[in-house]
Amino acid sequence: MNAGLDRAARRVLIANWRRHATVPAARLYPHQWSWDSAFIAIGLRHLSPARAQRELESLFGAQWRDGRVPHIVFDPHVPADAYFPGPSFWRSGSVPQAPGVPTSGIMQPPAHALAAWLTYRADPAAARDRGFLPRLYPRLVAWHRYLATRRDLTGSGLMCVVHPWESGMDNSPAWDVPLSRIEPVPAGEFTRRDLNHAAAADRPTDTDYGRYVRLARDYRDAGYADSLAGHAFAVEDPLCNALLAAGEHALAAMATELGKDPDPHLAAAARLTEAMAATLYDPSAGIFFPRDAHTGSHLRSYSIGGLLPLVVPGLPVATELVKTALGDRFRLGEASPLPSYDLTAADHDPGRYWRGPGWVNTSWLFWHGLRLHGEPSLADDLRDRLLERVRDAGFREYFDPLTGAGHGTDEFSWTAALVLDLLRTP
Ligand code: SER
Repeated sequence: MNAGLDRAARRVLIANWRRHATVPAARLYPHQWSWDSAFIAIGLRHLSPARAQRELESLFGAQWRDGRVPHIVFDPHVPADAYFPGPSFWRSGSVPQAPGVPTSGIMQPPAHALAAWLTYRADPAAARDRGFLPRLYPRLVAWHRYLATRRDLTGSGLMCVVHPWESGMDNSPAWDVPLSRIEPVPAGEFTRRDLNHAAAADRPTDTDYGRYVRLARDYRDAGYADSLAGHAFAVEDPLCNALLAAGEHALAAMATELGKDPDPHLAAAARLTEAMAATLYDPSAGIFFPRDAHTGSHLRSYSIGGLLPLVVPGLPVATELVKTALGDRFRLGEASPLPSYDLTAADHDPGRYWRGPGWVNTSWLFWHGLRLHGEPSLADDLRDRLLERVRDAGFREYFDPLTGAGHGTDEFSWTAALVLDLLRTP
């Protein structure tokens, strides 16, 4: 049974490979996306360690001189109108610190150091032959430095996302309050391409899209400069900060492997973990909440991102997060994938993008965290449920967490990659 799923997952990854990277989905997302590539590498390492290394190397080949890793690297062979907003919107070519290849100017959650370390571990000898770590490590360090300095907009020691797309969870209810302050660009002033390839009920609304376009346009027109005053939307997000902390642990392991000092990375991880626990964790709720950088208030939305600090080694509140996951809001042990948003909330929508459905990448992160924090039976049960879902509904982009109905696009790369990892990890 698993052999068939394994074969089908490999087929998706092979079909979605383009010269030096994998597209998330052939029609809906026809370029290279940043955090997709991280999850894709985690699966590709089982199929071809060299290909997984190239996936990450090609992404970091488009890193900006200020250290940022763009959320999209555009494929010049793909027609200009295949995706909106495309290269003519972002205009990276006119930004001095941008690379030669066209990219967007925002970023996505920093899952890359963790992915690079897992990729290295899959075949250290082959990685050494290709010089993978010596090439990637300094780039990962520059990426983390950009996030820890330029994106610490409040001085709290935590990084901010400045666009909902940067959080990876575009239309999460967590962003509704700060997003309500943004005047949407009227729908007639741009043409959405996503609705050509996915059902409108599965995707963000036109009003939210208009707000995304406004924020991206303002950032572009400011030359992609970062300051609290310059960003109308600025949020300290638990998932991004958790990945940054987990990534510092991965960088420490890489530093040791390269004969360098791991301590600065371990110290950075400890500082981030402490700042997250002090600033974003709510003990009475048993979850991390994002914080609005402009008001200093928590955005009290029970989103999966608030449970994902479980990926941080040594997190002091791991037991509490597992307890919250087992409760009515997330129903670990029954729901699969884990819902992106509170099952008990009146506005939970099990089919619309990040407002309810479950995604395999966030469940994979939770599974990884369960293993890290000594919960192997819960981890195995979650893995089995995820595999069953995908076996039944296919490699969909997201799923109704209770009925298992598939949503969004099909043949989705990170679903295939992470299924492969769940199947192959002992
Ligand atoms: N996730 C966003 C999209 O749907 C932005 O990358 O296109």
